[in-house]
Parts: sequence; structure tokens; C-alpha cells
Amino acid sequence: MNLAVLGAQWGDEGKGKVVDLLAPRFSVVARYQGGHNAGHTVHVSGQKFVLHLIPSGILHPEITCVIGNGTVIDLDALLSEVEMLASLGIEVGDRLRISNNAHVIMPYHRDIELLAEARRGERKIGTTSRGIGPAYEDKIGRRGIRIGDLVDCSETGALAGIVRENVAARNRLISGAAMDWKVVLAQLAVSWERLSGWVTDSSLWLARARQAGQAILFEGAQGALLDIDHGTFPYVTSSNATVGGVCTGLGVPPSAIDRVLGVVKAYTTRVGEGPLPTELSGSSGDRLRESGQEYGASTGRPRRCGWFDAVAMRYAVRLNGIDALAVTKLDVLDGLKEIQVCTAYRKGSELLHDFPADSVVLASCEPVYETLPGWSWLTEGVQREEALPPEALAYVARLEELAGVPAVILSTGSDRIDTIFRDNEILGR
Ligand code: IMP
Repeated sequence: MNLAVLGAQWGDEGKGKVVDLLAPRFSVVARYQGGHNAGHTVHVSGQKFVLHLIPSGILHPEITCVIGNGTVIDLDALLSEVEMLASLGIEVGDRLRISNNAHVIMPYHRDIELLAEARRGERKIGTTSRGIGPAYEDKIGRRGIRIGDLVDCSETGALAGIVRENVAARNRLISGAAMDWKVVLAQLAVSWERLSGWVTDSSLWLARARQAGQAILFEGAQGALLDIDHGTFPYVTSSNATVGGVCTGLGVPPSAIDRVLGVVKAYTTRVGEGPLPTELSGSSGDRLRESGQEYGASTGRPRRCGWFDAVAMRYAVRLNGIDALAVTKLDVLDGLKEIQVCTAYRKGSELLHDFPADSVVLASCEPVYETLPGWSWLTEGVQREEALPPEALAYVARLEELAGVPAVILSTGSDRIDTIFRDNEILGR
């Protein structure tokens, strides 16, 4: 059985922990979109790992990880991640495959992004400044550089011509810039030396793995509401974080996806700009932020926090065909007297039950809340369902009812062991 694990909110749902937990049931973990804008945090026996590009499955020595063609790769960031893992005793060795068709984030992409954000002023997206958007722009504009192109880094080759043109365009765009294309090309050659052993036709590799009966976990980054097509455009990332991205970003057919697990936090967060109907300001928002340690794993930025939004969740369930949910950070709600859940939006005199992805419309929506009782005893670190307070179980049951799918994993803390598995059937072995 192959399982897609993806974010059903605005990212940071706790996918890293969930993928790490489920990984031992699979032989392969494959990432299909995004880049090092993602920050997947995994805690194992008090040790914290933050992965940006390499799938969280790498922490398990028997698993092979794939970085698919739908991703964009900053070569230095990738190599630093390999080094960071080695320093913590995790050898990547031959357990990594990188698609030859994945696009490279070039040094000029970051500069272009900073310029674009500055030019947008008040309308800025609040990106992670990792060069993600400009790298995808070059891919769509058919001037991007794929990892496989690095096989010939000679100054007379085809790649050299593209690098020369792209660097010249960037120098024209940024006043005072004098990037030297030969230096850029030489850097690519150095990276290729170190990476080439992992580069392959990953679509073919995955097809063979499937033929050999290996089970694959497809790992999403960001979240459904940040999807370039279905998210709150333009306040989105530049890739397809929804389930369609699995097929296009890895070169696997839809029939390869047996089940879809949506990861949601027990409340909502968002980093960067864009509408967030259930956002809490003042001390209520601060309480969630501090208690949930809601600071970006990649950028350190404070996350905006709010109540659970069931309208947005239903949208994510519909878009992705989510079969089941993993609900994370339930413990962050410990001690609250009352908990609110948004069940609809009010827009003027209209009551909306369907999520309007249009960010202008969404910004004009007011949440309609249902109030549920909180719980006074701690769920933090609880590993058995019977040990949860009845109010916490009632809260989860209400989320399930609103989503129309079961919550099969409940996470009550950052460590692997702080987890309740409720239905293993849906999750594979
Ligand atoms: P970009 O992906 O850096 O272009 O950023 C576009 C938007 O997506 C911004 O609002 C970012 O804060 C958001 N974003 C990108 N990656 C993540 C992530 O891993 N978690 C949460 N938000 C993200």
C-alpha cells in the first residue's frame, strides 16, 4: 500500500513527525514538491532534527528517500543537510535518489525574490526568501536548469549558454549587480561532483520499486491552502502541495496512490501574509504561539495562530480525497476553558459553508464559531486513548464529524512516542 501524507492547512501541521512515525511501514519515502522553504521537525529521544529537503524517512536506516522532479533544489542547502545528518550520526550513503529533472535554485533566484518582495511593498507575499518562486518561474518559463543538466559544466557546453544568459538577465534586473557566470558555472561543477551519485531518473526508479513490491510513502511539504492552484492565491507557495503534485512531481500514475492522510493541527497557524479567518490577536493568539512554540522551523518567524477552521479543512479533504486525518498538537489546547471551532463563514448577510479560495473574498469573511468545552487535565505525552480527557475525545470526534473522515493518529507531544494510533488498517501494515 502506498500512502500520501500531506498538509491540510497552511503548512507546519506536523508532517515531519507523522512521516517519521509511519516511515518504518514503508521502504521508500518520496518528496514531490517545494524546496528548502519547508522545515520538517522530528524529535527522537530528546534529539531534534530539522529537515528541509531530504524526506524525514532518512532517519530510518533501512529507508531510501527520493527527491522528485517537482521539487526545486538549492544545492548548497542540500549538501549542508547531508552534512548536518552525518554530524548527528545519520549517514545518507546510497539511500538517496534525486530526480535528474528537479530544477536547481540558482544564486540569482534569491536576489530576484528579495527584489520582487521589496517592489510589492504592502502587497508582499511574506515568502521564506529561499528563491523558491523565481526557480519555479524559470522552470515554467523554460529557462530553468535541471540537476541532470549539470553533467556538462564546461564553458562551451549547452548549460554554460543558459547560465550566461540567465546571469546576464539578472545583472540587468538588479542595479549594480555584477555576477560572473563563469563563477556560477564553476560552483555548479563543484556541487555536481558531490551530488552526481544520487542523481537518477527517479520516475523509473520508483516504477521499479513498485514492481518489486516496495511500499512508498509520498511526503508533501507546505499545505493544501498554500497550493499554487488551489490555495489562497497570490498568498501561496509556487508548487502543487495538493495530491495532484504526487503524480506530476514524481512521475507516478494516480493509481500508485492508495490512501491519502491529511495532517492537521488541533488549531490553525499561518506564516507570511494572506487571509486567516480564525486568526487570534492579543493574548489568546500569544498563548497558542508560546504553548505550541509556533516559530518557523526554516525562518524562525512567529506564526500567526487561530482557532481550528473546519471550513478550510473540508476544502482540503475534498481537494485531496483525504481518507483519514492525523491531528497534531492536541496538547497545546490543554488548560483552555473553552475551545472554538469555525464551522462556517459569514460574508455580509451570506452564510458560506464552502471555502472561498479567492483571498479577497476570504479576507471579507467572518468566522462562525461553535464553542466546545476545554479540558483541565493534561493530554501532553498521553499515549493511550483511554487516558485522554473525555472533552478532548469529544473535541476530536467533532473534528471528525466536520471533516467526514476519521482521525487515525493523535499527536500529544513532539517526541515519536507521544502518539496515539487509533486505526492501523488505514495506514498500511
Ligand atoms: P515561498 O514558498 O518561500 O515562496 O513562500 C510563499 C508562502 O508560503 C509564504 O507565505 C510562506 O510563509 C509560505 N510557506 C512556504 N513554505 C512553508 C512551510 O514549509 N510552512 C509554512 N508556510 C510556508
